[in-house]
Amino acid sequence: MTRAISSIIGGQRRQDAPGGRLTSVNPAHTSEVIAEALLGDAGTLVEACRSAHAAQAEWAATPAPARGRVIQQIGRLVEANAEALARLMTREIGKPIAEARGEVQEVIDTCDFFLGEGRRLYGQTVPSELPDKQLLTFRTPVGVAVIITAGNFPVAVPAWYLMPALLCGNAVVWKPAEYTPACAEALAELFSHGGLPAGLLNLVLAGGQATFDGLSRALQAGLIGKVGFTGSPEVGWRIGELCGRHLQSPCLELGGKNPLVVMPDADLDLAVEGALFSGFGTAGQRCTSLGTAIVHDRVHDQFVARLDAATRAARIGDPTQDVLYGPMISQRFYDRFLGWLDCVEGHHTVHGSTGVGRITRGNPREGFVGDPEAGLYCHPTIVDGVTAKDELYRTETFGPIVGVARFAYFDEAVELANGHGYGLSSAIYTNSALWAFRFRERVSAGMVSVNNSTSGAEAHLPFGGNGKSGNGSRLSGVWVLDQFTRWQALNWDYAGKLQKAQMDITDVPADLDFRLPE
Ligand code: UN1
Repeated sequence: MTRAISSIIGGQRRQDAPGGRLTSVNPAHTSEVIAEALLGDAGTLVEACRSAHAAQAEWAATPAPARGRVIQQIGRLVEANAEALARLMTREIGKPIAEARGEVQEVIDTCDFFLGEGRRLYGQTVPSELPDKQLLTFRTPVGVAVIITAGNFPVAVPAWYLMPALLCGNAVVWKPAEYTPACAEALAELFSHGGLPAGLLNLVLAGGQATFDGLSRALQAGLIGKVGFTGSPEVGWRIGELCGRHLQSPCLELGGKNPLVVMPDADLDLAVEGALFSGFGTAGQRCTSLGTAIVHDRVHDQFVARLDAATRAARIGDPTQDVLYGPMISQRFYDRFLGWLDCVEGHHTVHGSTGVGRITRGNPREGFVGDPEAGLYCHPTIVDGVTAKDELYRTETFGPIVGVARFAYFDEAVELANGHGYGLSSAIYTNSALWAFRFRERVSAGMVSVNNSTSGAEAHLPFGGNGKSGNGSRLSGVWVLDQFTRWQALNWDYAGKLQKAQMDITDVPADLDFRLPE
């Protein structure tokens, strides 16, 4: 019998499904049902916010080191269950098992970082301009954080939000992607068994519109202190607009069209390896996936030939095996990817596989691992001849497609790296420190790699983008603390009389006409 998974509010599993039911299937074997999600509606989200709101004050009053201890216990529990969680992820979204293990490791790393933050969460002491007066700053929790995440990183990206949000003394309502209910439930279980009191992490399974309507109502009711969203720019804009009306600045992590520049002095094999991993890892369904390789004229033909050969030789297929990538993570992603293949135009040349589009027995991929027709598998596609005028250059194509453009001068490379308006991740391959630093200075992306791919951000560096990739907010490390706390300023006067800032100032006489002899 199919397992039903429901929203969990205040520690209670909901039995109803006012938003309908949705079946989660294994995209590598679409006949295998993983779970049935009982979806909530706008009211469910509002209720979850009320439950979070009711639980938050007591949690905020719990000493931060004790909150850190809860994060530590959750981390140890994730570690003890790492293999089961990774396998579940591979079944639910088809992420190759090695990458799924890496994603679980990212959750553990995030816990390791934030458990220590429980003993820091520093404020400052600031000198006052008046005597017998002390100024201090404190980080105060925002209250309730509503976190809406995508399904391509069904546990690591949620952990980037949930761990710091909770550590800072907030309560959370988490709305994961509808098509990853099993991963979401598993993570929620680990939080609760790790000792997180009920009501602090409320899981809401719901469709997009229901979530938006619920968000709107909960913001109107003053229940929310922060919205975090990882997903498409289109939805990000709507959430930004809605939050703006309530004087809230959400944490928005949107898409990317991440450039990888190959300079003429680059180690070409290294650049090819980086392009292969960031272009096709997770079947190109990361927000940090390579969009366009921007390659100097002098090495362009060699780069394309070597990337083509490496891509043709790569093992693609059954994600439980050692493969470069498995299926598209869900039917929705598969359908959208087929649409984006229309961006390939007459002046382009296509490389990388024995076909384009879905891999089937009639449209086979040489060396495919397993039965392609059991799942939603797509050929890797390298599109050479991309120019700044092309739709492919401007469009984020969430799937196994990589563009290649060429340049003659460094300025052109920078223009191509920035011209699409996204600004999440970027990479440059060069052995020249000059080009590396120039690129760092001029690229508009929030993240830059030198001689490493556009993917693979570490869990304690600021993660986030500019332009169409986000509103400047940053996740991870100490930087995310500014998302989940607000600064409170305290000024404490012990002079025993009213001292007026800017008025009762201490005068320090000086002879400002003094000049040294010429
Ligand atoms: C995402 O695609 O939303 O840097 C996050 C990376 C991963 C995270 C990607 N650690 O590729």
